[in-house]
Amino acid sequence: MKNIHEFLNKKKKNEKITMITCYDFSFAKIVQESKIDIVLVGDSVAQVIHGHPNTLAATTGMMALHTQAVARGTQKLIVSDMPFLSTRKGIKTAMDSVHRLMKAGASAVKIEGADGHLELMNHIIQSGVPVMGHLGLTPQSIHQLGGPKIQGRSESQAEKLIRDAVALEKAGCFGLVLECVPAELAKKITEQLSIPTIGIGAGIYTDGQVLVLQDMLGMNPEFSPKFLKKYSDSYQDQLEALNQYADEVQKKTFPTKEHSYE
Ligand code: KIV
Repeated sequence: MKNIHEFLNKKKKNEKITMITCYDFSFAKIVQESKIDIVLVGDSVAQVIHGHPNTLAATTGMMALHTQAVARGTQKLIVSDMPFLSTRKGIKTAMDSVHRLMKAGASAVKIEGADGHLELMNHIIQSGVPVMGHLGLTPQSIHQLGGPKIQGRSESQAEKLIRDAVALEKAGCFGLVLECVPAELAKKITEQLSIPTIGIGAGIYTDGQVLVLQDMLGMNPEFSPKFLKKYSDSYQDQLEALNQYADEVQKKTFPTKEHSYE
């Protein structure tokens, strides 16, 4: 998938959308060859690649660097996250950040939350940059939310999420990530919107799904939330490969003549 029109058409055709996070060139090349539709350079890069405890450490510089690396490996539609507070320091700072991400190779940006963002989103969209929304568990507000909790369980929270989702569509967003919300609420939102919803921990009724690449490959044995399906045991596979290499060097069974130059 190369543009947002193909993305929007998928909902019209009732076809599911697949999205995956990606932060580097080598994985981007694999994603390019895969059936995945769309790539997210998520601010989860701060945790997955840089080892921070949450996404608050992501900066525009970090997002731009990883966006560049991913853009060298794939021609698919790339959405890059606007990092923590980049949307809250005035329009100039926000537009500078958008500009850097687009120059780095993004085709669109993603912004967490609706409150205080509608005007800015409108401005970004009118400037020719597609914007994806993100509601439910918004990890940049982790301290406000009190932890990575399911959002929208109470009636008032659910109503607010529906209102926000409608407002984001009205502001011009081309898609909406719904993170960690009850499946029935995600269903309601998905039915009310004409733009696609992309779920993570949001059940079976969203128009598409997104997962963090390293999580679905099983590279993080300590992270096993209910919503996550691990399609591989990469942690174990890679550990075994490293140990086999170390053992073979110790036992002098690698390198052999086969790996040597005459
Ligand atoms: O940064 C990220 O990985 C995300 C996904 C969880 C949607 O925003």
